[in-house]
Amino acid sequence: MPMLTVSGLTKRFGALRAVNNVSFDVDGGEILGLIGPNGSGKSTTFNCIAGLYAPDAGTIAFEGAEISGLPPYRICHKGIARTFQIPRPFHNLSLLENVALSAFFGRDRAVTQKAAWDYAEEALAMVGLPTDARVTTDGLGAAALKKLELARALATQPRLLLADESLNGLDHTEMEQAADMLQRIRREKGITIVWVEHIMGVLMRVVDRVVVLDHGEVIFAGAPKEAQENARVVEVYLGSEAVA
Ligand SMILES: Nc1ncnc2c1ncn2[C@@H]1O[C@H](COP(=O)(O)OP(=O)(O)OP(=O)(O)O)[C@@H](O)[C@H]1O
Ligand SMILES: [Mg+2]
Repeated sequence: MPMLTVSGLTKRFGALRAVNNVSFDVDGGEILGLIGPNGSGKSTTFNCIAGLYAPDAGTIAFEGAEISGLPPYRICHKGIARTFQIPRPFHNLSLLENVALSAFFGRDRAVTQKAAWDYAEEALAMVGLPTDARVTTDGLGAAALKKLELARALATQPRLLLADESLNGLDHTEMEQAADMLQRIRREKGITIVWVEHIMGVLMRVVDRVVVLDHGEVIFAGAPKEAQENARVVEVYLGSEAVA
């Protein structure tokens, strides 16, 4: 049984079908790339899975149980965490406090203060940010803010991570580091990952499969190599020169 099954998912904004009858599975242990042009429905799909939006139609099953329509905190308690495309940390709190706060609202609801701090230290170490309680968000660049966003998600102790990252503003080395980090998260924590990313060279190296969206619909699901050879995927998204 897949870990996550999305069936016939539809989300409308007025007349716009941002997500239109989308179906795909996520298998436990995989890194799945969810890709497509700007506005194709990737973040809206995440928002439906994570409970920020109630779907207009369709079902979402996580580990065999229906979750669509549940509020975000209940979905988080079940073991799904997501990062936001635009990081919005609490700027008046330290990095450690930002991440510890997530732990209090995560899968382990009996978390003690000590355990929350331990989870936060572990998550910060995993993404390579300082665990010193005095370090604040002042002066953090795009790459560090993305890492903090990831640490906040990890501190909820998820089984499934939805990583919404457009790595705008990162240089090539930082992009490669972000990809390595996701692989390490899977390897060391056993966390299944759905990764939204626009930099194809980096994404294709890391993912086991890709699902491609266009105008809210799935136009391809399969191996990265086959996606790169698929005429429709190349036409609507990759372009003939985009895949390095
Ligand atoms: N809250 C909203 N209200 C109205 N329209 C929205 C809302 N959120 C998204 N949309 C629209 O739904 C469509 C899908 O948007 P979505 O953010 O899911 O795309 P995306 O694939 O994540 O794009 P990007 O790669 O730019 O992040 C777009 O046309 C967008 O303008
Ligand atoms: Mg998006």
